Amino acid sequence: MDRKKFLVIPAGGSGVRMGADVPKQFLMLGGKPILRLTMERFLEAVPDIRVVTVLPEAHMEWWRQYCVKASFTCPQKMVQGGFTRFHSVKNALAQIPDGALVAVHDAVRPLVSASKIRELFAAAENAPAVIPATPSTDTLKTVSKNEDGVPVVAGTIDRSAVWGVQTPQIFHSEVLKKAYERGYDTLFTDDASVVSAAGVTVVCIEGERTNIKITTPEDLLLAQAILSVK
Ligand code: C5P
Repeated sequence: MDRKKFLVIPAGGSGVRMGADVPKQFLMLGGKPILRLTMERFLEAVPDIRVVTVLPEAHMEWWRQYCVKASFTCPQKMVQGGFTRFHSVKNALAQIPDGALVAVHDAVRPLVSASKIRELFAAAENAPAVIPATPSTDTLKTVSKNEDGVPVVAGTIDRSAVWGVQTPQIFHSEVLKKAYERGYDTLFTDDASVVSAAGVTVVCIEGERTNIKITTPEDLLLAQAILSVK
C-alpha cells in the first residue's frame, strides 16, 4: 500500500532549560531558526511531505510572520501546543488521516540526515512503529538521594539492554491515533512509549549520534560545531 507521508513537528514547548527569552526551537542556528532547519531536512528527504507544526500560542503569529518575511513557503498546518509534548502531539494527530505514515519529530533535532529519514520511512512501510535508537556508550547507574539530599549511586544497569531513543519516530497513522486515545502518563515523553503502552511492537533502527536534541546552551554549541562540518 502506498501510504501518504505526514510530518508532525511538536514545537510547542517553552524551552525553560535553555534559559533564553525565546523557546529553543526559534533560536538561530546557521542564520535560520532551528525549527526551519528541522523542517528543511524533511523537505529534502520527502519533498511532498505534508506538515503539521505544533506551536506555542504566544509564538504562532511570530512564526507565521517569519515564514512570510523569510519566504519560507513550506505548506504547513499550524496547531496550538498543549500542556506537555503528549498533549501537543495529540492536538496535531486530529489533522492526520488514517492509512498514512506519520513521522513525529522534535523541532529541536535539526541535524537528522535526509538519508536516515528516508530509511525510517522505508522501514515503516512494513512495520507499524519504527524509531531510531543508539546503543548506550556510557555506563548507566540508578541514583537516589541520601538523607542529606546528595545524589548517590543505587545500582548499575546492564547497558547492553539500554538504548537512547531519538526522533523521527514513524508510525502507521491509525495505530498512533488509536494509541493516543488513552490518558496521559508521565512516562509518555516520546511517541513510542504511547504505542508500546497500547501493546504495539516498536522496531529500532540504528540512529545517528549527531542527531542531538538541542536542550541546553551546550547543545547549541555542539550543534553549531556539527553543522559546520556537515
Ligand atoms: O521538552 P522536550 O525537550 O521533551 O521537548 C521535545 C519537543 O517537544 C520540543 O520540540 C518541544 O518544543 C516539544 N514540546 C511541545 N509541547 C510541549 C512541550 C514540548 O510541542 N508542551
